[in-house]
Amino acid sequence: MSGRYRLTSVDAVEEEGSWLFTVRDQHGNDEEFFLVPCDDPDRPAVEAWLNRCTHESQRLYREGVGAIVRDGGVVCPKHGSIFDTCTGYCDNGEAADTTLPDVEIAVDGGQVYLVDDDVTFLRAGPSRDDDDDDGPSSTSHLQF
Ligand code: FES
Repeated sequence: MSGRYRLTSVDAVEEEGSWLFTVRDQHGNDEEFFLVPCDDPDRPAVEAWLNRCTHESQRLYREGVGAIVRDGGVVCPKHGSIFDTCTGYCDNGEAADTTLPDVEIAVDGGQVYLVDDDVTFLRAGPSRDDDDDDGPSSTSHLQF
């Protein structure tokens, strides 16, 4: 795509805690990303991260739940690694020393825009080729 596509407002992301959308990449693959607020005043108010843990294929944003955000970090529901909401970096647990892939967005006038030329916006919400397990494994002992 070229130009920019309005996704939502900063206020909506802050009120809901996270906001999911789906794009199609240049290879025709649909990928989910989610927006989360970033509290660092030197960075944009919102960042966008791939909705897949770097450790295993586990969604970080789950329908009906959203992303679990604690103290500036997105918590993986499967093994509990925490990714910085502003940088996507993880320094702990099974996903330590990895960073979530991002997609290019811009925040302007309180609105959030997709500005990444490598992807095309498909829809707000999840992708529809949905044969992954959406929840954490049954072996998870984490409770939120
Ligand atoms: S699947 Fe996310 S930490 Fe293991």
